[in-house]
Amino acid sequence: MTNPVRAFAPASVSNMACGFDILGFALQSEGDGHLSPGDLVTASEREPTAGGCGPVRVTAITGDEGRLPLEAERNTAAVAAKALVDGEAPDAAVDLEIEKRMPLESGLGSSAASAVAAVVAVDALLGLELPAAALLRYAVAGEVLASGGAHADNLAPSLLGGLVLVRSLDPEPDVIELPVPEGLTCALVRPHAEVNTKESRARLDRHLPLERAVTQWGNAAALVAALYRSDLELLSRALVDVVAEPVRAPGVPGFHAARAAAIDAGALGCSLSGSGPALFALCDGRARARRVAAAMVAAFESDVRVNCDQLVAPLPAPGARVFNKEV
Ligand code: HSE
Repeated sequence: MTNPVRAFAPASVSNMACGFDILGFALQSEGDGHLSPGDLVTASEREPTAGGCGPVRVTAITGDEGRLPLEAERNTAAVAAKALVDGEAPDAAVDLEIEKRMPLESGLGSSAASAVAAVVAVDALLGLELPAAALLRYAVAGEVLASGGAHADNLAPSLLGGLVLVRSLDPEPDVIELPVPEGLTCALVRPHAEVNTKESRARLDRHLPLERAVTQWGNAAALVAALYRSDLELLSRALVDVVAEPVRAPGVPGFHAARAAAIDAGALGCSLSGSGPALFALCDGRARARRVAAAMVAAFESDVRVNCDQLVAPLPAPGARVFNKEV
């Protein structure tokens, strides 16, 4: 039996306004000597027959206030890990311990962080050294369980770090790592509320008017061009979501006040992080991002009297990694 392996996968911002299901970036708090928001998963080998259960078992979960299921079929990390074991090492049996170090249902890719940390830990435990595309394919199984849809705009940045475009998952993940202009910084604010991603996705329009689709893909293409050109004015014009945000914003009281406060404080753009309720604002520089985050928090508190957490996160941030010691 090899030694247990402990892996961390960071929280992430998905959609980036105009990139529903295709764009996202990893998060790391500025000046954070400790771990930023994310999940830690420890994987250990066990005898295949021990426990009389399937190839993957969840033995403990901490940091979730007892809300996440231990049953492997209902647990995002276990479903992703089982997909990997079934596909690559069908004789192996693995135990997982999950440490949640981020809030649930916050729009920060909590389920993706679980799935990514699990596949990275199991890959290292079994000495497989799988390519990122294969890890992503297995992690998608966990995301489908959590959100009801196969998308990797949280998974890919959580795995790879940086800011990424998921062109397609079919037939294999096709992920493009995008350049990040110098100084680009995310101001992130999380009101103390929750949004269930599966329910939120179910409410989205399945059929878009062509004009709205054209607007969205024009902005998504412009955002990519802006990143390559380090053109922050174009980036600012492109950070508009006409697909998901109009449906979801009414479910986040204070959204419009907070976004207006972000723009007034000098943000390049602001939208929901994933399905919310967290909001992200992209800013030119850390000092500006701190002012923008403070303005958004003040707006939430005065508009709807909701307390918030805030995070200032310089881009690009590192992705998932294996730890050999206590963190
Ligand atoms: N792109 C996804 C969504 C992210 O907006 O539903 C949340 O899982």
